[in-house]
Amino acid sequence: MGSPTSEKFWYTKDMIPLDFTIKTERLLLRCLELKDAELVMEVGKISDFTNGMTWDPHKSFWTAIEHIGSNRQSWIKGVDYTFSIDMDEQHVGRLGMYPLSGGTWKEGDWVLGYWLHPDFQGKGILTEAALAALDFAFKKLRVKRMLATHVHWNDKSGAVMQRLGMRHTKTDPKGFKKHGKEYEQLEYEITKEEWLDNNSNH
Ligand SMILES: CC(C)(COP(=O)(O)OP(=O)(O)OC[C@H]1O[C@@H](n2cnc3c(N)ncnc32)[C@H](O)[C@@H]1OP(=O)(O)O)[C@@H](O)C(=O)NCCC(=O)NCCS
Repeated sequence: MGSPTSEKFWYTKDMIPLDFTIKTERLLLRCLELKDAELVMEVGKISDFTNGMTWDPHKSFWTAIEHIGSNRQSWIKGVDYTFSIDMDEQHVGRLGMYPLSGGTWKEGDWVLGYWLHPDFQGKGILTEAALAALDFAFKKLRVKRMLATHVHWNDKSGAVMQRLGMRHTKTDPKGFKKHGKEYEQLEYEITKEEWLDNNSNH
């Protein structure tokens, strides 16, 4: 029998320091910093930007700051890794991963979420960031299966999942819930074995 302090319950193999970064051809992924609050405030003002995500625009700059503080604490605890996507030293979007628990979720099930400022969409930036983040997840964290979901009309998000090599596993007629309404949601996944098979030449 394991206890919550036994190693099998840890989500990471080693502690990931706050200054940890992932570099790709065009991007740098890093832990969020307080200065990143400005961008989330800016995208929150764009009409409909958050409609396909479970969160709503922050009501004030201070709630945006508090949220970043809690993201950093979760990073230290190893229970959520939300990365800033930086291009040319500019924060252009976010990508987060956290473990799922309870219900039908199994140990090692995590979920991926993301957004990108509209000025930086259509350039493959999110796909480039997510490929690197998945590599990190499957090699450094105790991730056995990465899941992602999108509301039925969010084809751009679904296209990212497909470019990552994720499989469409389910369409839940009422899976996406927001503001008391239910919408059809598509679910995707990729297992660690599939990821390693697909990326064995890297
Ligand atoms: C979801 C979201 C991040 C997708 O952004 P995106 O720019 O389409 O995704 P990418 O950065 O991977 O770019 C892919 C696009 O760039 C193009 N592209 C250009 N160069 C590319 C490259 N080197 N590699 C891949 N794609 C490239 C692709 O053809 C594609 O364009 P298309 O949609 O016209 O075919 C964006 O729509 C978003 O932030 N939406 C609001 C928040 C949201 O809904 N988040 C998801 C919740 S589930």
